[in-house]
Amino acid sequence: MKAAVLRQIGQLDIEDVDLDGPRRDEVRIRVLASGLCHSDYHFIAGDFPVPLPAVLGHEVAGEIIAVGENVGGFAIGDRVVTCLSAYCGQCRECQTGHNHRCEDKPGAPDRPAGSRITKGGEAIRQLGNLGGFAEEMVIHHRAVTKISPEVPPSSAALLGCAVITGVGSVLNSAKVPPGSTVAVIGCGGVGLNAIQGARIAGASRIIAVDKNAAKLSAAIAFGATDTVLGGPDTAGEIAELTRGGVDFAFEVVGSEATARLAMDATRQGGTTVLVGLGTPDLTVALPITTFAMTEKRVMGSLMGSAAYQLFLPQLVTYYQQGRLKLNELVSREIRLDQINEGYASMANGEVARSVIVF
Ligand code: APR
Ligand code: ZN
Ligand code: ZN
Repeated sequence: MKAAVLRQIGQLDIEDVDLDGPRRDEVRIRVLASGLCHSDYHFIAGDFPVPLPAVLGHEVAGEIIAVGENVGGFAIGDRVVTCLSAYCGQCRECQTGHNHRCEDKPGAPDRPAGSRITKGGEAIRQLGNLGGFAEEMVIHHRAVTKISPEVPPSSAALLGCAVITGVGSVLNSAKVPPGSTVAVIGCGGVGLNAIQGARIAGASRIIAVDKNAAKLSAAIAFGATDTVLGGPDTAGEIAELTRGGVDFAFEVVGSEATARLAMDATRQGGTTVLVGLGTPDLTVALPITTFAMTEKRVMGSLMGSAAYQLFLPQLVTYYQQGRLKLNELVSREIRLDQINEGYASMANGEVARSVIVF
């Protein structure tokens, strides 16, 4: 099959590779659509070192084409979405409803010995145990959920990361109550979903912040009530709009400056939710006395804190009811061999999401 392989930082090469399996507990998927998420761009750009060579891609919609031993609940032809939050079901996190934090994630084919992708005998890792920038995938069945074939593949793919992460950060991680005031800092693929999550939650005020004006018009379409172009006094502008700051500020960029802005933009008792990923060593100074005296909070949010087997069907229901925009997230459909150009247009801010269609 063809796959986009990361061998050296900065560029993906389209190569012919071999794919083995499915073995026990695994399914084989024909990839129909695969989204270009910013997190993978961190690996391509070398912000996060990962063992190479590797096939990236974790935002995938596809069709089951083979089912391994010991796998129940999937049949050939089923439409599925992949998820990074594979879970064991047995550990303390899984047993307490935090499957996304599973301590014993099953099936780890991103280990070289476990990879199902090879070329001339050399193992090529499947990043995140997935490897969706390829025509087919062999992955653990608990990294997959069935979805309605009514959802177009390029829209369905985005459910697997951008949508679950953004909407879930609001509904599951922060549990934003109706009437809250919310700021979303960074209106890319994930941020737009935090915005529509806040709309679904019934937030009274949703302030979209981005340094790119074009992203702010998209933010309005996804439910923002106000927009602020990122500048030197963004926190002050948010404070003015909300009489002292928002109840919840979502940081969906992954930088020190925007994390600081999120903390400054919250009112007393307000919560900063860190969604964006920066480099592993990224920090922000916490003003201890201010936080103590104002009872502000800061929390992290991983994959929308979602038990995805329950949450993805819930999101599809919202989509079918017209409450969740998916098709509008797809700025461009591209071919696998256009992946480097696709990432370049993300890096220069032209698109919300490009999706590879096969
Ligand atoms: N101030 C305001 N907005 C900013 C700033 C800034 N200093 N820097 C970047 N942005 C905006 C960009 O203009 C863009 O609209 O943040 C947005 C980022 O969007 P995408 O590149 O589409 O990234 P996305 O896929 O949404 O991911 C965002 O979440 O999961 C993580 O790793 C991912 O760190 C990334 C973040
Ligand atoms: Zn992602
Ligand atoms: Zn577990």
